[in-house]
Amino acid sequence: MSARPSVLVARRIFPDIVQRLREHFEVEEPLDDEPLPQPELIRRLQGKVGLFATGTELIDATLLQACPDLRAVCLMTVGYNNVDLAACAARGVVVTNAPDVLTETTADFGFALLLAAARRVTEAEHYLRAGRWKQWNIDLLAGADVHGSTLGVLGMGRIGQAIARRAALGFGMRVIYHNRSRLAPELEAPLGAQWVDKTELLRRADHLIIVVPYTPAAHHLIGAPELALMKPSATLVNIARGGVVDDAALAEALAAGRLAAAGLDVFEGEPQLNPALLALSNVVLTPHIASASIATRRAMCNLAVDNLIAALTGGQVLTPVGP
Ligand code: 8YV
Repeated sequence: MSARPSVLVARRIFPDIVQRLREHFEVEEPLDDEPLPQPELIRRLQGKVGLFATGTELIDATLLQACPDLRAVCLMTVGYNNVDLAACAARGVVVTNAPDVLTETTADFGFALLLAAARRVTEAEHYLRAGRWKQWNIDLLAGADVHGSTLGVLGMGRIGQAIARRAALGFGMRVIYHNRSRLAPELEAPLGAQWVDKTELLRRADHLIIVVPYTPAAHHLIGAPELALMKPSATLVNIARGGVVDDAALAEALAAGRLAAAGLDVFEGEPQLNPALLALSNVVLTPHIASASIATRRAMCNLAVDNLIAALTGGQVLTPVGP
């Protein structure tokens, strides 16, 4: 038997990054690129002490009980709602995530969705590709301005702050935000960012970007009652997690003209999505790619590898998460 620790890489990643792992560990890679159903994940984890994980594996008490050798779960994602942190702590399993390295890339994408939704970019392209562009009209595909408007940010962590910087410093927007805790005055001041309660946020925002982590308490944080508070001219962008927004209620509001447009990168039950969303032209839909630049996905993977090496060779993990 090999003296080197064994780790499992849950999903296909960049070959040179797997090679980095091979310098330290016996490495099992996935045979294909399908998400592993939990029984299969458990089977492959037998005898493994480390898991390189993504957002698509469920790490809960059942798995931990069935994988007694496991000592470290290192995620290449910043979100960790697929991991039961308390169950991991109870078994002494170290969990790490991948914050910071994806902040700017994800904030860029939040802005891309905001601009695309407010200025009807994908709708305009579909119109053109369908051969419907016959003449100029005064209000052809006219949308809402982003610059100079009021941006509401729901969740003011690292990504929320990076979005607020783009808004205030790049687009001359007023930034209002809602978060459990207020930012320190020295962070608020350069952005002119103002903390408001959730109701005021929804009422005042010309555009709303949602960047809260998913927890049971955040389930349907934005549902029909919240959407009813928003301006009919407003845009909603969700780059957080499916389930934070009630997608059925959102589709209804968009269809009824109670909300102008939406940009969604995450969905309840993804990769399935509510068919009502697909039928709408005033929503921009992307398949959970907010962090997907090559450089950033590589940085996320490398951070997970750094954490695995530290966790399994007696070092200090860089970015632990605990209950
Ligand atoms: C991941 C993300 O690509 O890091 C996160 O939490 O949402 C994305 O960057 C996604 O979780 C992969 O499943």
